[in-house]
Amino acid sequence: MAEKRIEIVKQYYEDSYKEKGLNAQRLYPNEELLRFFGREFFSKIDRNKRGHIKVLELGCGSCSNLWMVSKEGFDSYGLDLSEEAVNLGQEMLSYWGMQRKFRSWQHGKSSL
Ligand SMILES: C[S@@+](CC[C@H](N)C(=O)[O-])C[C@H]1O[C@@H](n2cnc3c(N)ncnc32)[C@H](O)[C@@H]1O
Repeated sequence: MAEKRIEIVKQYYEDSYKEKGLNAQRLYPNEELLRFFGREFFSKIDRNKRGHIKVLELGCGSCSNLWMVSKEGFDSYGLDLSEEAVNLGQEMLSYWGMQRKFRSWQHGKSSL
């Protein structure tokens, strides 16, 4: 039952990413997430001292959050059900010059 639901969700997002590409999701980070990072990290930890802080986004989609997290110096990881999302995420990170700082995993293919 749970597997069937996950398959339905995956198909939904795969179709959406295939049809709309990067426009399927936001291009910029979630406002609340930015506030959280601002409050907890930006003003408290220098950018060059954030590399040891690991951030994992479950369901990272096309990385509209992760590019900012990565660009701000955190050790960033993303995981998504959708292969299309992972491809778009690479595109997004590459656009922001973050290609080599990003890794992503898909269910059943790897683990942290
Ligand atoms: C609404 S999008 C949000 C993407 C991103 N977090 C953002 O804020 O831009 C939800 C994402 O979660 C992924 N997702 C949904 N259920 C998941 C699961 N069980 N495991 C991994 N990814 C999942 C979908 O494939 C989709 O890319």
